[in-house]
Amino acid sequence: MRKIIVIGAAGQIGSELVPFLRNKYGNDNVIATYRKTLLQDSIKKSGPVVYLDALDNNIISKLFNEYEVDTVYHLASILSATGEKMPQTAWNINMNGLINVLEMSRKYNIKNIIWPSSIAVFGPTTPRDNTPNTTILQPTTMYGITKVAGELLAEYYYKKFELDVRSIRLPGIISSETLPGGGTTDYAVEIFYEAIKKKEYNCFLKKDTILPMMYMPDCLKCMTDLLETDNSKLKRRVYNVTGMSFSAEEIATEIKNHIPEFQIEYKPDFRQEIADSWPKSIDDSLAREEWGWNPSYNLESMTKDMIDILSKRL
Ligand code: SER
Repeated sequence: MRKIIVIGAAGQIGSELVPFLRNKYGNDNVIATYRKTLLQDSIKKSGPVVYLDALDNNIISKLFNEYEVDTVYHLASILSATGEKMPQTAWNINMNGLINVLEMSRKYNIKNIIWPSSIAVFGPTTPRDNTPNTTILQPTTMYGITKVAGELLAEYYYKKFELDVRSIRLPGIISSETLPGGGTTDYAVEIFYEAIKKKEYNCFLKKDTILPMMYMPDCLKCMTDLLETDNSKLKRRVYNVTGMSFSAEEIATEIKNHIPEFQIEYKPDFRQEIADSWPKSIDDSLAREEWGWNPSYNLESMTKDMIDILSKRL
């Protein structure tokens, strides 16, 4: 059985990945770590929970050793919009956090590391439709810069030290458990909360802005399927993945099918420029070919599920 540590377990993905992994690998085999944000009670009750700052090698080293960790999910990161407000902090947390985790993983012979990259590695010079796996990577955000550098580091550690780091370029993730924080794709989650609570939403992107997205159940499958794939099948360290693509107006229309009174206004802010530099759709055929990636949700089924879950809870 694996011994897994999740760095950044309080975040949008971590808060759902931890229960998913505990269900699959056993509660005691999944160590949830937090830094600033405290973990949910259900995570605290169901298995080990510890403080970890990825900028502190002593803590990483102590925990890897104490829990005999063999698998790492390194999710702690500053996202695109926050990264533009504090670029040096984004660089520090995203880059120094990652290299610490890689270095400690090397020292403790960690078997597998999953570290998400992002569609933010692409920029205005990248083809925006059906963006291929191998293409121009010239991002214009600090977040994107740290993700490109991170991808190169992952390749480097794999080639030089045989450290098995694997990565997926995640699009916007839509989920009902924990709100995302500080990203450009966050609107596609907020819109559901506001539609249910207030029947109206002020969107910070223009209505014709199309971005690639993925629903959380597919994201969890993606992150665990990639981990369990035999290394001999993987011809690269980093994969494009996507679930669906839609414009802000299209998701609003889909929500109106369930909540007819729903109203939306568009007031683009600084995040519009970030969104405009990212792809509209992603070619994920290599992930499909090499490790069987195959998402289940589209705009319609995701919207229905989100509204069902959130209307019961809110
Ligand atoms: N969801 C991220 C962001 O908006 C993209 O990886 O920053």
